[in-house]
Amino acid sequence: MSESLDLAAFPADFTWGTATSAYQIEGAVAEDGRSPSIWDTFSHTPGKTDNGDHGDVACDHYHRWPEDIALMKRLGTDTYRMSVAWPRVLPGGDGPVNQAGLDFYDRLVDALLDAGITPNVTLYHWDLPQTLQDRGGWTVRDTAEHLAAYASVVAGRLGDRVTQWATLNEPLCSGWIGHLEGRMAPGLTDLTAAVRASYHLLLAHGLSAQAVRAAAPGARVGLVTNHSTVDAASTRPEDIAAATRMDGHTNRWWLDPVYGRGFPADMRELYGVDLPERPGDLETIAAPLDWHGLNYYFPATVTDDPEGPVPYAREVRLPDVPRTGMDWQIDAGGLEALLLRLTDEYGVRQLYVTENGSAFPDTVAPDGGVHDPDRARYLEEHVSACARAVRKGVPLAGYYAWSLLDNFEWAYGYDKRFGLVHVDYATQTRTVKTSGLRYADIIRAHRRLY
Ligand code: NOJ
Repeated sequence: MSESLDLAAFPADFTWGTATSAYQIEGAVAEDGRSPSIWDTFSHTPGKTDNGDHGDVACDHYHRWPEDIALMKRLGTDTYRMSVAWPRVLPGGDGPVNQAGLDFYDRLVDALLDAGITPNVTLYHWDLPQTLQDRGGWTVRDTAEHLAAYASVVAGRLGDRVTQWATLNEPLCSGWIGHLEGRMAPGLTDLTAAVRASYHLLLAHGLSAQAVRAAAPGARVGLVTNHSTVDAASTRPEDIAAATRMDGHTNRWWLDPVYGRGFPADMRELYGVDLPERPGDLETIAAPLDWHGLNYYFPATVTDDPEGPVPYAREVRLPDVPRTGMDWQIDAGGLEALLLRLTDEYGVRQLYVTENGSAFPDTVAPDGGVHDPDRARYLEEHVSACARAVRKGVPLAGYYAWSLLDNFEWAYGYDKRFGLVHVDYATQTRTVKTSGLRYADIIRAHRRLY
C-alpha cells in the first residue's frame, strides 16, 4: 500500500516521528515532588471527564519509558515530540526548582538520543501548575512571565542536548476551550477571561522563545498551533460572514500576531474585550521563529448563528462524509490547504506537522493483533496530502503522528484511542497496531529511496 504514496516528494532529511504529551501518558502524578496541575483538578472534578477518567496512572510512562522508547525504535521513527510537565519542574509554578523532576527528563532525553531519536520538546502542553491557576492562571500577565522563567530552567538543563523546542501546544485550546467553552481545564466560560488568556498565552510564547534562546544558544524554537479549514455551509452572505468570523476565531487570531500582523481588527471588535496590551508586547509575540508546528485533525463547515456563542458561527454536521471515532470529519485536503496557507499567506519558512491522527475504538483481536485499517487509511491519506504540499513548494521538514500510544484524551478520557500502539490499561500491555506497522513501512520505504 505504501508503494502508492509519493514518498519521493519528501527530502532525504525529512523526519518521521510520533507525539505525546506529559499529562496524557506519564501518570505518577504525586511522585518525585510533582505538584497538581489544572488538569489534575479538572479531571478529578465530578462530571468534567467521561467516566471520571483522570491522568493519575495514564500509560505509566513515568516508569515505562524504556519500553516506550523501544516501541519508537520498532516503528523506525527518528524523532519524538514530547512535553515537559511544568509542575514537575517548578512545583510552586514560580518557586524553587525540583531537581528530581528535571532528572526524569534528563534521563529520558539521554535515552532517546542513545536510541537515535531526536527529541522535540514542548514546554507547555496544558498542565499549568494549579498554584498559578489559584493566582489567576492565564488571565493574568504574571503567568506569562512565569512560563518564561520555567522555560529558562528547562532549556538550561536540557539545552546542551535538545535543539528542537516548542513554546506552547495549541494555545487555542487553552484559550478558547479552557476559558470560553469550559470543556477543558480550567473550565471557565467567560469571554473576558478567554480573550485575556489568549493574549497572555501568546505573550508567554514570545517571552519563553526569548528565554529558551538565551539559555540554549543554537536552540531552534517554534510554536505549535492547531487549525481547521473553514467553509461556509452555503453561499448565503450570512454564512460566508460566519465563515470569516470562525476563521478569525480559529486561525487568524492565533497566527496574525505571531507573524507580525497584530491581532485581527474584526475579531477585536467582535470580542469587544480590551486587550491587556503594553508597549513592546507585539514585537515580543512576533519575534521570528525557526519553525512552525501545525496540528491538524479536521475541517469545519459553518453557518450563521446570531443567537449562539462567540463567534456566532455554528459548525454543521455534513451528512455522508467519513468520520473518525471522535465524530470528526476526515478530510486530508484540509491539511494540504493549511500547509499551503501557512507558507503562502504567513511566509512560514520551515514547517512540521506536529500532530495528526485519528481515534477509533480498537480492541485486541483473538490473534493478539490490533487491526485498525481506518487509522492506517487516515495516516496514508494525510501523508499523501503532505506529499502534495511539498510538491507545491511547502517547506515541510517532518511529520509527527498523534500518537505513539493510546492515552488520556482529556475530557474524553481513555475511551478515545489515538495510538499507533494499543495500551491495555489494566495491564499496561502495549501492542503495536496495524497502523503502527504501516507507519513503519512508510518510513522504511522513504528511507530506501536515498
Ligand atoms: C491535540 C492535542 O495537542 C492533544 O493533546 C490531543 O490528544 C490531540 N489533539 C487529539 O485530540
